Amino acid sequence: MRVIIVKDDDAGAQLASAAIIRRFQRQPKSVLGLATGSSPLGIYQRLIAAYENGEVSFADAWAFQLDEYIGLDANHPQLYRNVIDELLAKHVDFQPGRVHAPDGLARDLASAGPAYDELIEAAGGVDVQILGIGTDGHIAFNEPGASFAAGTHVEALTEQTRTDNARFFDGDITQVPTHALTQGLGTIMRARQLIMVANGEGKAEAIAQLVEGPVSVSWPATIMQHHPHAAVIVDEAAASKLQRQDFYRHAWENRLDFQEL
Ligand code: F6R
Repeated sequence: MRVIIVKDDDAGAQLASAAIIRRFQRQPKSVLGLATGSSPLGIYQRLIAAYENGEVSFADAWAFQLDEYIGLDANHPQLYRNVIDELLAKHVDFQPGRVHAPDGLARDLASAGPAYDELIEAAGGVDVQILGIGTDGHIAFNEPGASFAAGTHVEALTEQTRTDNARFFDGDITQVPTHALTQGLGTIMRARQLIMVANGEGKAEAIAQLVEGPVSVSWPATIMQHHPHAAVIVDEAAASKLQRQDFYRHAWENRLDFQEL
């Protein structure tokens, strides 16, 4: 796992978006995995700018979101499908019907998970997956104790995650859904490349566990240590609890020409 410490979230977004843009320039038919939340905002802004400048197109691409809340109305602005539409999809040239999210509105939630995994497989699997991390170490909505092998499934959200996300619901935790339909860790690990961005001191413990801790479902993101092509891009605050910061800086500054994210 490559660990890259950058000076701020802007620099992280620059690095991550450049890698994604390169990928779509070389292979326009790629499949992009999308995270919601604050962490990827700068990446999405840069992808939109690159599209507007004619540097990249998503006309042949597919996209799959990581997760979706259960219990929100179809028009709720925080339904992740609507969030991604506002933040990215409607500003670039994905073909209609090519940006998917788990169906948190499904009547049959038990079969909506496996159906979503089949859809991802039918598109050829995710090529580049953007990830954020929760303060409790979750990725997508795989909370501590999650299965490393699970496919897309219904997950109960922890009090910590609902508190963290209350900022998107007028600061009112009672408005934050209690459940989500989320790609499982097994689904996420099948993506060919993982790019995580994390910023701020609140993420420092989760990042230290992810990068240097034992692999454990107590910190679900630690499964990324077993991924063959994963990068963790962190600002200095999020990196502050890492023991080997000097080495990570050294390795990135002295990377060889062919070494990209
Ligand atoms: C959302 C998702 C979550 C977030 C995580 C961090 O699709 O996958 O795992 O990435 O909750 O959220 P932010 O980026 O808002 O700190």
